[in-house]
Amino acid sequence: MCVKRSTSARKGLPNGTPDRDAPLAGRTLAMIFEKNSTRTRVSFDMAIRQLGGSSLIMTASDSQISRGESIEDTARVMSRYVDAVMMRANRHADVVAFSEAASVPVINGLTEKSHPCQIMADLQTLEEAGLTLKGARIAWVGDGNNVTSSFIHAAPKFGFSLSIGTPAGYDPNMEDVERARSEQGRIDLFRDPKEAVAGADVVVADTFVSMGDKDGDKRLADLAAYKVSSSLMRAANGGAKFLHCLPAHRGEEVDADVIDGPQSLVFDEAENRLHAQKAVLEWCLKA
Ligand code: CP
Ligand code: NVA
Repeated sequence: MCVKRSTSARKGLPNGTPDRDAPLAGRTLAMIFEKNSTRTRVSFDMAIRQLGGSSLIMTASDSQISRGESIEDTARVMSRYVDAVMMRANRHADVVAFSEAASVPVINGLTEKSHPCQIMADLQTLEEAGLTLKGARIAWVGDGNNVTSSFIHAAPKFGFSLSIGTPAGYDPNMEDVERARSEQGRIDLFRDPKEAVAGADVVVADTFVSMGDKDGDKRLADLAAYKVSSSLMRAANGGAKFLHCLPAHRGEEVDADVIDGPQSLVFDEAENRLHAQKAVLEWCLKA
């Protein structure tokens, strides 16, 4: 599990000043965005700066990708300039194609299929809050989406069980579920959100309308009964923690008194994107 680089190494330093050991001095991270971002963009940018390197940001719309240059050619060219690429893409297959053509490390900054960097920060946040991941019970409520898949991928690796409560038509990716089960992961699927959270140490929500979803009104109607309210939190273990990757929509997937209440860890979770991203970058570039 990634850990925060020693806070003493940063004590008293402004956020944009490199860590005293600056382990990635001189390295450059390029970030390609085909979708919006606040946390991923800023945390990766600050992460590489704190490690002593620098970043540049491209949106697909103002690069030649939007004029039809292939993903593979873009990857080959970028590999001649920079030391690593982080990509947030509309199509997961494009991140895979980019990484296969690139000769530098390529980091998945979210696709329609997964959001692994988010889950690293989430698990770090839970450990920091005192939870032992092995044997912990995590409940996901709402849409079975890209972030759900990353929790499913992590479950067998870290030994927590995952209960997923979704309505019909919003199930998580069943190939991911089957693979996690084949790796001895415990993944249980529910239709009733109260059953999903029963006995949970952690309840997780995410938006009902992800980037790229075209059927927003239908989703909000279909998923309304899966909102995390204080009454749903009471159906979990006493003192259960609440996570949400943000951005949040208060009153849709979560009530304000939950996300802004004492059980919520969402801003530690957001902060930990920075620390987790530093660990990812150091791992990719120092190996
Ligand atoms: N949680 C997350 O990835 O946020 P952004 O979309 O703002 O990057
Ligand atoms: N499931 C959301 C996560 C945003 C960080 C989306 O893909 O839009």
